[in-house]
Amino acid sequence: MCGIVGYVGPRDATPIVLGGLKRLEYRGYDSAGIAVLQDGGFEIRRDAGKLSKLLSTVNDDPIKGHLGIGHTRWATHGEPNTRNAHPHIGATGDVVVVHNGIVENYKELKEELLAEGAEFNSDTDSEIIVHLIERYLSSENDLLQAVRKALSHLKGHHGVVIGSKHEPDKIVAARIGNAGGVVLGFGEGEMFIASDLPAILEHTREVVYLESHQLAVVTKDSAAVYDLDGNKLEIRTETVPWDPIAAEKGEYRHFMQKEIHEQIRSITDTINGRVDFANGRISLPKLNLTKEFANKIEKIIITACGTAAYAAMVGKIIIEKIARIPVEVDVASEFRYRDPIITENTVVLSISQSGETADTLAAMAEGKRLGATLWTIVNVMGSQAMRISDGHILMQTGPEIGVASTKAYTAPLVDQYMLAILLADLRDEIDEKTRKQYVNELRSLPNLVSQVLSRETEYERIARKLVDVNNSIYLGRGVNMPTAYEGALKLKEISYIHAEAYPGGEMKHGPIALFDQDMQVIVIAPKDPWYDKMVSQVEQTKARNAPVLVIATDGDEQIPELADEVMWIPDVFWMLSPVIAVIPLQILAYHIASIRGLDVDQPRNLAKSVTVE
Ligand code: F6R
Repeated sequence: MCGIVGYVGPRDATPIVLGGLKRLEYRGYDSAGIAVLQDGGFEIRRDAGKLSKLLSTVNDDPIKGHLGIGHTRWATHGEPNTRNAHPHIGATGDVVVVHNGIVENYKELKEELLAEGAEFNSDTDSEIIVHLIERYLSSENDLLQAVRKALSHLKGHHGVVIGSKHEPDKIVAARIGNAGGVVLGFGEGEMFIASDLPAILEHTREVVYLESHQLAVVTKDSAAVYDLDGNKLEIRTETVPWDPIAAEKGEYRHFMQKEIHEQIRSITDTINGRVDFANGRISLPKLNLTKEFANKIEKIIITACGTAAYAAMVGKIIIEKIARIPVEVDVASEFRYRDPIITENTVVLSISQSGETADTLAAMAEGKRLGATLWTIVNVMGSQAMRISDGHILMQTGPEIGVASTKAYTAPLVDQYMLAILLADLRDEIDEKTRKQYVNELRSLPNLVSQVLSRETEYERIARKLVDVNNSIYLGRGVNMPTAYEGALKLKEISYIHAEAYPGGEMKHGPIALFDQDMQVIVIAPKDPWYDKMVSQVEQTKARNAPVLVIATDGDEQIPELADEVMWIPDVFWMLSPVIAVIPLQILAYHIASIRGLDVDQPRNLAKSVTVE
């Protein structure tokens, strides 16, 4: 969950490492630190709190050198204070380490190291790694070998970057398992290392991703990759197409607001190149899906976490409806620990923005182990989810920086709709007329997204009215039941307002006991097949004096009679209505949090990609 940046080259490492950390702050932001090799020794600056504190510390007490590593932390072991911030330095002062992951056997290792006389300066599990490397450096005299040996003791998943003052031209990096990525960036006579691409994109687009159980030794003009046994491996650089400008905030106050507005572009790009409107056909070539395999599929299990799992719930309804294939949705953290029924004709489809979420990756691994075909809908190119899958659909959203996911929720809704049409076509489950109609519905979607976004000021007015709400319940049914879940998640994670969501029909089975004038009810009631049911839900809510806000379709005459407030959305084909209906809820949550003066892009206790269990 932490962000890592490293640099070696002719330029001053400090601004490059700090600039990279700035781009990764969304990954963890409870402390940060940097180590730079200056005059033959490591100078370290660390601070608890946001990166801005570290920036002013470095400003007051500058460090300068040609090799540096930095870290922004999301605490797992040890409080988020300065003492526990990375980089960690050993007793000799020779070695510095930044680490992403959890040393699962740290207690045993710590006892062992204490018995050998090591002195610990933090409460972290990560500090173990420095002491282990020091242990082996004293006999090996070779950083790579010492790191290799040290890593062989660690249980768990790790991304590690290491510097040694005795090898002042080198950085060693390693990846074990799925604690986030390690990417090497190739510049002109300089090299970069990062846990995530946005950190280095402004400097280079030529990259190599480390696979699990690989180590790299990087100097300013070389990179060599090894397996954990020390065998040298072939590497080939990839060119990243992302535009670094896309990772900037631009005219918006927050990344979240920018990303909400980018949905016009992301939905357009999601459709472009994959839809043949003339023939009413979908193509998803990276899925590697043949007609033969499509006809063999007996079941699809969609697995994901958080927002992505809500996207999966929409996908279930759409894929079952269009392709007539049974679909299960399994929260990844649960799937990995039960005994799922999987045959060789089962597809495990993961959805993940980061492609690095530990639970999702573990669920995929479990699917693979049991013989399923693995597909993923993923945003981050080169991520682990993409690499371990048999086929993928790349979300066309560009980098998502705001911790609360927005554009990476709507894109997979469209991806799954297209997948459903493709599967139905290959399995002869759909007639040509219907297929063409479904495909044609995609044509107007970017325009509908644009229309709904143009209503932001009106939605903001409603946000101002709801800003002091303490408790809220979101209700939805059918294809918009997940919209209720996602709306509530957005509100709670960035505004800290208590928000729950229920399938509308469940209300009378308990939650209705909570309804009174202090419970804000938010009902998702667009013109979809569940509309009449939702109208009656609004009536029942009003009968209990609860204030009710409704998401309704333009022209609806019943809802304004019943609701206290309405957020209007344009008319949209019901299977695509979750894409449109969620946007006012994203905007509502965004403005409530922003008016409350909260840190919208970096809400408390959260991190962008959850690479620990
Ligand atoms: C909510 C949010 C999280 C993520 C979840 C999965 O706004 O961002 O719930 O959706 O942690 O992350 P990915 O999609 O990266 O696997």
